[in-house]
Amino acid sequence: MILVAGGTGFIGSAVVRRLLRDRADVTVMSAHPGRGLRSDGVRLVEGDVLRPETLLTAVAGVEVVVQALTFPTFPVEKPRKGFTFEEFEHRGTERLVRAASDAGVRRYVYVSGAGAAPDAEKVWHRAKWAGEQAVLGASMSACVLRPSWAYGAGDRALNRFVAFARRGPAVPVIGDGSQRVQPVFVEDVAEVVARASRVDGPAGVFEVGGPEVMTMNDVLRAVLRAIGKPGKRLVHVPPALPKAAGAVVRPLPRPPLSPDAVDFVTGDAVADTRGLFEAFAGLRLRSLDEGLATYLRPRR
Ligand SMILES: NC(=O)c1ccc[n+]([C@@H]2O[C@H](COP(=O)([O-])OP(=O)(O)OC[C@H]3O[C@@H](n4cnc5c(N)ncnc54)[C@H](OP(=O)(O)O)[C@@H]3O)[C@@H](O)[C@H]2O)c1
Repeated sequence: MILVAGGTGFIGSAVVRRLLRDRADVTVMSAHPGRGLRSDGVRLVEGDVLRPETLLTAVAGVEVVVQALTFPTFPVEKPRKGFTFEEFEHRGTERLVRAASDAGVRRYVYVSGAGAAPDAEKVWHRAKWAGEQAVLGASMSACVLRPSWAYGAGDRALNRFVAFARRGPAVPVIGDGSQRVQPVFVEDVAEVVARASRVDGPAGVFEVGGPEVMTMNDVLRAVLRAIGKPGKRLVHVPPALPKAAGAVVRPLPRPPLSPDAVDFVTGDAVADTRGLFEAFAGLRLRSLDEGLATYLRPRR
């Protein structure tokens, strides 16, 4: 049996869809599993990385764990609820790894993120790195994947932009849009995760990014072309404005942004994929135009 922790999320759902093409024994771990059995036949089990006592039951009888989860208000931290990078990526990963190891899980795949490093400036990169160490230091065979910036039909980031672009007169962009990203189609991330989840799959740390390194402005222009609105204007908003707004809305239960989250979305996300293509022979990752064309169409 394979357990996808975070299988209700953006990346996790794509992983589940991809796994179901090859195998039927897929279970999803969710902190909010109220729904039981899903329409696709996948079983939901409760598992909350903030409540270690739930994890042993979740991993019982599992051979492979895929971890692709994060806190509900990501990337806006809510420390009082435990919704922080440190609590999820570092401590939460440690808890799930420990439970998996104790339950005799053979293989662990951790969806980390591009930029993970022990001495990184930003806490999200340091917490990811600490989570990776927990996975790599365990007794199971392990694969750590570090995607760059993933997009697809169910994403939150790019789809917000698409909604603006379809309806509004212009499209607001936080910052000058010059950050470098390497967009990777979520279905391609899922393909890599599925291959990595084989018990004898590649072990180690692999960065996963699409074939193009481009600025965020270029990404957004590609989206405008894909939806048939190439002439629409991008309006750049200085980060200080959303940062100030983020400080004001911080007390809301699900604040849409925070000063740190503004840094998160305006930071670079670039991957070094040389090791990936050596280890995952024959892998092909789609260009941004190819990926967008699978789910975006011009509309009148
Ligand atoms: N999206 C990207 O572009 C991208 C790029 C690189 C790396 N990543 C990494 O990939 C991972 C998944 O990202 P995503 O965008 O797919 O996130 P997402 O759509 O927000 O999904 C989050 C998942 O976490 C689960 N979750 C929330 N609270 C939990 C808890 N207390 N215990 C256990 N599970 C919990 C949710 O399940 P329930 O709500 O059902 O509990 C949901 O399935 C993250 O670690 C992220 O950093 C994402």
